[in-house]
Amino acid sequence: RRIVVLISGSGSNLQAIIDACKAPDYPGEVVAVISNKADAYGLTRADNAQIANQVISHKDFVSRESYDQALIEQIDVYQPDLVILAGFMRILTPEFVQHFSGKLLNIHPSLLPKYQGLNTHQRAIDAGDSEHGVSVHFVTEELDGGPVILQAKVPIFAEDDAEILASRIHQQEHRIYPLVVKWFCSDRLMMQDEKAVLDGKTL
Ligand code: GRF
Repeated sequence: RRIVVLISGSGSNLQAIIDACKAPDYPGEVVAVISNKADAYGLTRADNAQIANQVISHKDFVSRESYDQALIEQIDVYQPDLVILAGFMRILTPEFVQHFSGKLLNIHPSLLPKYQGLNTHQRAIDAGDSEHGVSVHFVTEELDGGPVILQAKVPIFAEDDAEILASRIHQQEHRIYPLVVKWFCSDRLMMQDEKAVLDGKTL
């Protein structure tokens, strides 16, 4: 299966998926990486793995609609079976989400439906939570609101700051995102009626 990954930054999740794809029996390959930021380190990761990559800067477009339209057109050039948001820090238009409906995944650093939006680690600490986590979900028009596929939990310790907690979360991200991508690429996972279905069972 052909995978396109959208990033804005470090791309450690991109790296985890690139690494997973190296396994001979892995059913997917990353065919392109697109960033909205020119200085995203994930572009270097794509270069190192000899994967096509490019920058489409939102600053070159007058509106969110025109940016997303350009993004759709460029992604379609690669004819992906799956489009993955991996730290892509943009809100997507309904047109974009509909265009890739059922084949668009995101990873969000919280135990959804808790802490949609930004600064999730600090918010979990400030709330006095004893655990935090990460969710992989299908993307629907509701921001961070699509059906959850898989979550991983981590403890929050009294001395944690947001940075330490983020790194603990990242380790789980790098484990669960390639796994979910593998399920999708093996036709085990799909979205039906805005619900995630794995092996024929609604999650
Ligand atoms: C991750 O924490 C992910 O959950 C969030 O953005 C971050 C991306 O990290 N959506 P990286 O660029 O993959 O290292």
